[in-house]
Amino acid sequence: MMSLVNGKNVESSAMNELSQTIYEEFLSRYGKEPILINSPGRVNLIGEHTDYNDGFVLPAAIDKMIAMAIAPNKLTKVRVFSEDMNEEEEFELDNLHKSEMHWANYIKGAISEVQQEGHIPHGFDIVFGGDIPIGAGLSSSAALEGAVLVGMEELFGFGLSRKQMAKIGQLTEHNHVGVNCGIMDQFINLHGKANKVLKLDCRSLDFELYPFEREDIRIVLCDSKVSHNLADSEYNVRRAQCEEGVEILKKYKPEIQNLRDVHMELLKAHEDEMNNVVFRRCKYVLEENQRVHDACDDLKKNNFEAFGNRMFQSHEGLSKDYEVSCEELDVLVEIAKDQPGVLGCRMMGGGFGGCTINLVEEQYVDSFSETIRKKYKEKTGKETEIYVTQISSGTKVVEQ
Ligand code: GLA
Repeated sequence: MMSLVNGKNVESSAMNELSQTIYEEFLSRYGKEPILINSPGRVNLIGEHTDYNDGFVLPAAIDKMIAMAIAPNKLTKVRVFSEDMNEEEEFELDNLHKSEMHWANYIKGAISEVQQEGHIPHGFDIVFGGDIPIGAGLSSSAALEGAVLVGMEELFGFGLSRKQMAKIGQLTEHNHVGVNCGIMDQFINLHGKANKVLKLDCRSLDFELYPFEREDIRIVLCDSKVSHNLADSEYNVRRAQCEEGVEILKKYKPEIQNLRDVHMELLKAHEDEMNNVVFRRCKYVLEENQRVHDACDDLKKNNFEAFGNRMFQSHEGLSKDYEVSCEELDVLVEIAKDQPGVLGCRMMGGGFGGCTINLVEEQYVDSFSETIRKKYKEKTGKETEIYVTQISSGTKVVEQ
């Protein structure tokens, strides 16, 4: 339900426990009323490593989030307290040097990118905390960027659209964190809707929402608990390999800008001119884009079995051709495949760790979770953590 609060559109949502804690911490630290923001993590049903190739993705926002309290101060500086880290950072608006506290750089980076768009007239105070597991591939960083961008927009009214904010969030990663990410995570964080998945055309940024609300099916995430150390460097390598393929194919079709414009016949016709690794990377991206279109057709027909099969195929491609999986993720998929009630399963996000995403029939969720825990421990010696998620709305201001 949308309503007008202080002349602004606000989506109603009762203050949750997390927001309450952040609100109280803010009051006790700064002694004034803040604006409260909820900014979610995300899952991606299908369409992995396609966004930076101008392709298609199918993510959704979830019910794990960052809660942020924000209010203006009369200073020229920003004060930020991270409830989870129990750390505080203070910096002048005209001196956004890199911080030793990793989390602070997402906030400083976003502020610095916003300063390219408009003048920030005075400082502000922030308290934030959340329940998105860090390093699990659920985009806690995009959630932090989304929260601070919506927060600044509320305070200063720059008139930035959600699309512009998503691009600013992406630039924050490129220019201040060093990850050349695509736009999926920031976009879904700012555009997600409850019970809907969002098919995004990463070139035009046009999107369509598809209902995803079968009562009898749950989205279950299994955390490999492997932190993706390799992820950032290998991520940028994958991007470069895709670009290498495009450079070769451009000689034959100069209008090609990136893999979005390449057909399988053209790629196969020039297979011998590229090294096998580059060929396999390109082939995977072309196939995965097609899977996103096909999976959306499955949703239109309410055919979750077909949808799930495409998730298995996606994993196969990510593991064998794109090579961004790891032993633990492959083990999680192998175990899940044989369990009753599992419609589909694959690794999710950048890869080299993080979570698998599983579509599981509701009645089997408990037995599924139990088996995964037991067998994952047997096979890898590691514990997994399992999250049963709900598809929720994107970043919003919380009514108080
Ligand atoms: C990370 C990036 C996204 C996307 C995925 C892989 O989450 O931030 O832009 O590329 O990996 O699909």
